[in-house]
Amino acid sequence: MDKIVSLAKRRGFIFQSSEVYGGQGGAWDYGPLGVELKNNLKRAWWRANVLQRPDMVGLDAAILMHPRTWEASGHVGHFTDPMIDCRACKHRFRADHLVTGVAPTAKGDAVRFSADRGTEADVLAGLRAAAKKAGTSVDEGQVRVAALHGPDAHLVGPSTNAPCPTCGEVALTEPRQFNLMFKTFVGPVEEAAAQVYLRPETAQGIFVNFANVVTSMRRKLPFGIAQIGKAFRNEITPGNFTFRSREFEQMEIEFFCKPGTDDEWHQRWMNDRMAWYTNLGIDASRLRLRPHDPDELAHYAKGTSDIEYFFPMGWSELEGIANRTDYDLKQHIEFSGQSLTYFDDETGEHLVPYVIEPSAGADRAALAFLLDAYHEEEVPAGEGKTETRVVLKFHPDVAPVKVAVLPLSRNEKLTPTAQQVYANLLRGLRDCVVQYDDSQSIGRRYRRQDEIGTPYCVTVDFETVESDQAVTIRDRDSMTQERVAIADLVPALRQKLGWDG
Ligand code: GAP
Repeated sequence: MDKIVSLAKRRGFIFQSSEVYGGQGGAWDYGPLGVELKNNLKRAWWRANVLQRPDMVGLDAAILMHPRTWEASGHVGHFTDPMIDCRACKHRFRADHLVTGVAPTAKGDAVRFSADRGTEADVLAGLRAAAKKAGTSVDEGQVRVAALHGPDAHLVGPSTNAPCPTCGEVALTEPRQFNLMFKTFVGPVEEAAAQVYLRPETAQGIFVNFANVVTSMRRKLPFGIAQIGKAFRNEITPGNFTFRSREFEQMEIEFFCKPGTDDEWHQRWMNDRMAWYTNLGIDASRLRLRPHDPDELAHYAKGTSDIEYFFPMGWSELEGIANRTDYDLKQHIEFSGQSLTYFDDETGEHLVPYVIEPSAGADRAALAFLLDAYHEEEVPAGEGKTETRVVLKFHPDVAPVKVAVLPLSRNEKLTPTAQQVYANLLRGLRDCVVQYDDSQSIGRRYRRQDEIGTPYCVTVDFETVESDQAVTIRDRDSMTQERVAIADLVPALRQKLGWDG
């Protein structure tokens, strides 16, 4: 992950939010290349899930919703994490992430050690080190290690006996439930009646508009509504770069179908969503579909499978695909008193549809695509030597820059033609980023473009201007070069990018 974090900053993909003020935890800014990468992913998702499907429509609902929405959805009551604070160093931890241990020592006293998101082995090592520091050793047969919160917590005693993983003081609070929704106020008075929430998921904006879409678009079941937008969660422990952030973007679908057809649609959506990632170049061996265990299931779900990617910290959720049954629509019917049912022409009855929800994160997808694209290769560097080239092997649809125009050198004979080629490409390949670069040696410029994942470089050389009015197209992955007449350049690139044919 460190290499990706460093490349992302150095090459303008992702910056820490508010860095000049020391950073805002759990928030990230997408730089000039990052915004192109994320936009490309969102566009590819919209194309596959809205534009190319007759059974889908789009929506862009507000972030601020009526607060009753979140009572109905269960977020006010259930969207909580157990949290433990350290009174000494003020650190805050997810209680279910803390692992702690206690062990009697040869001296007759006991040592304790805690780790945040550590393993049993980490805690054992910590206990041994603590005993050694005190000039003794642990009684290995009597070591007890357990999560501080959960069914085994009693093994290690009350959480208040455990030392803080950060400062080591015995100053932890008992676990308290902490709601992850950000609160704010509408209007000038900060009073309870004016309190609203920043939406923690985009899904509810779709549910509350179900009847509006059915009526205005004359939709028949089965059909789905797709939405891309920001969501906010006051995560206690954001981390792993952009993987868990407090402000992030979701790409969500609520697919409404008749009860009884839900299992089939669930399976179809799982297949479609897996194919979306691999069609855009994600290595299939780093992707898997993992069904939730019954005790993991959200209160609204009949079944959920996560699409997981093999991130550097291990297999982790990229997207969840849930069968939410008729839970949400029924909740909104109850809380709003409105009819959100669907009239079935075939049976002449009103019904509440079931819902399949493929819910993806745009930021997690961007991170997975960055990680997956990253390659280091040994390539010839002349005189029998080799050098390491860093290359992002993005699928052309995902790559932030599609083509770079590189005159062989900054030379007055080459510049006018190179600029003309660049202008032609800006017109012929509009809707994507084309770069022009004439600084430093051509070799270094190729490396720079490899490092940001540009699929094609167009080189203008002296032959171009002196004899053949042709340029070379260099392929990022094979590094082979092909000579193409300037007149044929736009169609040749459109074909290589997969735009035509
Ligand atoms: N409407 C269902 C829902 O919101 P979720 O599993 O909580 O389900 C769906 O979120 C997706 O949103 C996740 O698979 C992930 O890609 C993204 N996501 C959730 N929390 C996130 C966070 N704190 N930071 C970045 N992405 C997040």
